[in-house]
Amino acid sequence: PCRIAVLISGNGSNLQALIDRFQNEQHVQIAVVVSNKADAFGLERARRAGIPTKVVPNRSFDTREAFDAALMAAIDQHEVNLVVLAGFMRILTPGFVQHYSGRMLNIHPSLLPKYQGLNTHQRALDAGDKVHGVTVHFVTEELDGGPPVLQATVPVLEKDTADALAERVHVQEHLIYPLAVDWFARGRLAMRDDGCTLDGTLLPPTGRA
Ligand code: GAR
Repeated sequence: PCRIAVLISGNGSNLQALIDRFQNEQHVQIAVVVSNKADAFGLERARRAGIPTKVVPNRSFDTREAFDAALMAAIDQHEVNLVVLAGFMRILTPGFVQHYSGRMLNIHPSLLPKYQGLNTHQRALDAGDKVHGVTVHFVTEELDGGPPVLQATVPVLEKDTADALAERVHVQEHLIYPLAVDWFARGRLAMRDDGCTLDGTLLPPTGRA
């Protein structure tokens, strides 16, 4: 199977969508869920599903490099083919990103390249956008800048609020993230020279001796 590590910081509703989609499938196995927060609810979701969990608290490390090294060790111990960032709210170092080059996906709640960073729903409202959405992309050193894989749009409604809009975006997130992971696991999706192809090959896991 394609072994994946899911990295979270909070609620983990995207993790839940992945658990639900793949728990009865052979081709994707969630090998470990890693959180930088010990109280992330997503850890509870993983435990309920019988998935190994690991907490790597960023506050215990003096530097980003030291945190990322510990994170990398926690992931590579499980020999995964793909790292899935699912509401993981830490900026990763270039060394970490390079280690998982072509093997790491992120989901970002905007139609990238619009609204990189935080508060994307409010920013879409403030800009008067009529359409908002979500992007799954490969992770590169450029923050929220790697090659997009898949996007879904939602309408912005009259008198919308950031919370209402976020809720509508979440519904789409839970559809497109499992789809992108499924493509990757079937070897249909790969990152190539800063772009994507839908005719890829599965890379071997990192962390092999
Ligand atoms: C999701 O909306 C995801 O797109 C966003 O965090 C939320 C996590 O929700 N990610 C980012 O903002 C990344 N910069 P979840 O914990 O319920 O999956």
